[in-house]
Amino acid sequence: MADSASRAGQTYATPAILEHLARLHAPHDAALDTAFRANELHGIPGIQVGPHEGALLGWLLRGMEASRVVEIGTLAGFSGIHLGRALRAGGRLYSLEISEKHAAIARDNLRAAGLEDRAEVMLGDALASLAALSSRGPFDVIFVDADKGRYDQYARWAIDHLRPGGVLIADNVFYFGRLLEENPEAAAMRRFHELSATHLDTALVPTPDGLLLGRARPR
Ligand SMILES: C[S@@+](CC[C@H](N)C(=O)[O-])C[C@H]1O[C@@H](n2cnc3c(N)ncnc32)[C@H](O)[C@@H]1O
Repeated sequence: MADSASRAGQTYATPAILEHLARLHAPHDAALDTAFRANELHGIPGIQVGPHEGALLGWLLRGMEASRVVEIGTLAGFSGIHLGRALRAGGRLYSLEISEKHAAIARDNLRAAGLEDRAEVMLGDALASLAALSSRGPFDVIFVDADKGRYDQYARWAIDHLRPGGVLIADNVFYFGRLLEENPEAAAMRRFHELSATHLDTALVPTPDGLLLGRARPR
């Protein structure tokens, strides 16, 4: 249903409405709240997904009965808690993080969320960790939320390592509004979109910075 707001690229989602509805649809317990507030508690960037996107991640995983999940970009473990809690019994989340400080905070937060037995933070550059994970696939879900200049490489890996019916989820696919600019990171993000659209069944969710969903086709 196109109305004048969506045609104009505007939104009715005011901060007050989002906050009001988060109390109903995306409530935080103590563990989620601590991870969400890592910026204020530890002075690290506050660049985690929003409360509604976090809840959407868990909702998608539960619907798929996902048990093998990779997250590229851990930060303080906020999205990791959503992903880890949505795994089937016996499932495993591998969350990849390059910053020692972020990884240590995330491990504490994932432990506080009761996920130490199923969520593993892999410290190091994501491409090296992905190479190490190659033999542990195929995966049900791969969530990309790290350095934007390598989204094309992450998409290639995901296309090769998702099970048929498995889903790639990627945040910030509008590249902070700079997707159409002429610079190497924006070009990598455009290649990410081309690869995803070519090899996966995709749908774009126009969150503030765009969330891409892509399902792997039968082989
Ligand atoms: C946007 S944050 C992740 C937010 C997290 N997914 C959440 O919503 O709670 C991006 C994270 O990716 C990490 N990162 C950036 N480049 C990376 C790389 N090459 N390999 C692994 N992690 C990387 C950053 O240190 C940062 O913690």
